[in-house]
Amino acid sequence: MGPSPFGDPMGKSTDAGPAPVVLSVGGSVLLGADAESDARYFADLADVLREFGRTTPLAVTTGGGRIAREYIRLGRSLGLSEVELDEVGIDVTRIHARLLAARIGPPTPLPPPTTTAEAAREVHRASPVVLGGTEPGHTTDGVAALLAVRLKACRLVNATRVAGLYDHDPKTHPAAKRVDRVTWDEFRTIVHGSAGTEAGQEFVFDRLGADLLHRAKVPLAIVDGRNLPNLRAALDGRPFEGTRVE
Ligand code: UTP
Repeated sequence: MGPSPFGDPMGKSTDAGPAPVVLSVGGSVLLGADAESDARYFADLADVLREFGRTTPLAVTTGGGRIAREYIRLGRSLGLSEVELDEVGIDVTRIHARLLAARIGPPTPLPPPTTTAEAAREVHRASPVVLGGTEPGHTTDGVAALLAVRLKACRLVNATRVAGLYDHDPKTHPAAKRVDRVTWDEFRTIVHGSAGTEAGQEFVFDRLGADLLHRAKVPLAIVDGRNLPNLRAALDGRPFEGTRVE
């Protein structure tokens, strides 16, 4: 096995500059306990992304979190189809992208791109680029994975509400231990063994996304998104607390 892409601060940089990095921020990270701490988090996250994105092409996806799930529940009671419910979820993820992009400021594109093709074009001239969902049937983790493959990113960082991948569900098993490193085969078994495919479902990582990253050999880092110094370390490719999938 070659040197770890997580231990190489420059990633796969070339004469054309540093290789792009992709970040997926879960909606549950953006929407925490109360409005005041969420405002502080959006502002602090915007500062980190603006600074990092100045020197490295960075694409960021934003999840829909509990607000998306609330509207999806309402839509389901109204009899909307699963595709229509996915579209409700996409709209909410795009509101989060708009809020974060506006706080980051120019040159970050506003309104946010609505396709991965557009985001991939923008990232080399207007980094950091922020976007929400694209089409029904996957999640913003899946969008981030597609973008990472398109951009030949040196890593994808997944910012979640927990500090990585655990051997048991930490919500129900207080003694659950974080796993620092897993192989793609182990990770895909976990991801494919979890929840179904309905709109608004919460699972470890998007299935299609995990398969795409594995095939393209893009390493994945899973970190607690609310710990910004640690998130920054993962973006930089420095040692971080969390789980590496390689
Ligand atoms: P999220 O990306 O937030 O998914 O999209 P998630 O895993 O359910 O939740 P968090 O935010 O990481 O906790 C919310 C919903 O929007 C639809 C899906 O129904 C998804 O569950 N969606 C999102 C799409 O259909 N396509 C997209 O590209 C993005």
